[in-house]
Order: sequence, then C-alpha cells, then structure tokens
Amino acid sequence: MRNRVSVMHGVNFNALERRPAATYGELSLTQLERKIGEYAHEVGLEVRFFQSNFEGEYVEEIHRAPDYADALLLNPGAWTHYAWAIRDAVELAGLPAVEVHLSDVMAREEFRRLSVVRDVCVASVWGKGLEGYRDALVAARDALS
Ligand code: DQA
Repeated sequence: MRNRVSVMHGVNFNALERRPAATYGELSLTQLERKIGEYAHEVGLEVRFFQSNFEGEYVEEIHRAPDYADALLLNPGAWTHYAWAIRDAVELAGLPAVEVHLSDVMAREEFRRLSVVRDVCVASVWGKGLEGYRDALVAARDALS
C-alpha cells in the first residue's frame, strides 16, 4: 500500500511559534506536526517529518525521500518563492508532491505570489491555516490511489 508521506517544512519553521500569530497561527512546529499526524491517521496515511533551515539539507532530504516515502508534502517557507534547486529536486525525486502554505500567499506581498515548486506539484493549498494540511494530505492520498 502506497501511503507514506514525507512532510517537509523549510526555513524558519523551527521557530513557528515566534512568527506573527495573525499570519501563521499560534502553534509551534511540534504542535503543528502533531495535528498533521492526527489528520494523516484520519485519512489513512503514514507521515514522517523533516525540517531544515539549510537549503542543501532540504534538497538532500528530497533526494532521499523515495527510499522511505511515496509522496511529499512540502511547505518550503520563503524558499517557495525563489529556490529553483528545490523545484528541481522535487522533479528528480519523481514522487507526487503537494505544496501547502499556512497563510494566503496570494493576498500578501507580491513576491509571495510566485511559487517555483508549483509546476512540479500535483496540488497546492494555501490560506487555510492548519486545516490546509488536511486538504493537502487528501490531495496526496488521491494522487497515490
Ligand atoms: C509560508 C509562506 C511563505 O511566504 C513564508 O515565507 C513562510 C511560510 C506559509 O506557510 O504561509 O515561511 O510558506
């Protein structure tokens, strides 16, 4: 059964609880991951978590992901908007990938409207906060079925 998802948070997510609550909510990354774990259980997926502030580490983890995951759920943070190497790593991994953002990136600064990973993702979810992760997991499950 293909149901293993690697949930990968990027830069600044280790300090999520110190970021603007009005934009990102009040959860820490640990709390966010716990909720994602609950959602995953509800929709029949197994999740594994990763976070890094180092783009190269993030890229290398994407390279490794096919060894232990069937799909990727990515919130690369600010890298989303300019890190073409992450886009290429997702393409190279060859796994269905879903992009998710807590905030409404389309309604914020202009630079957040561009996602360099979007064209290699099967779905993109933004602006739904924590709930968006449920939608993203459902999209990942659909891509695996
Ligand atoms: C984010 C949106 C990005 O623009 C921002 O740089 C983040 C978080 C989100 O989840 O809303 O770090 O990916």
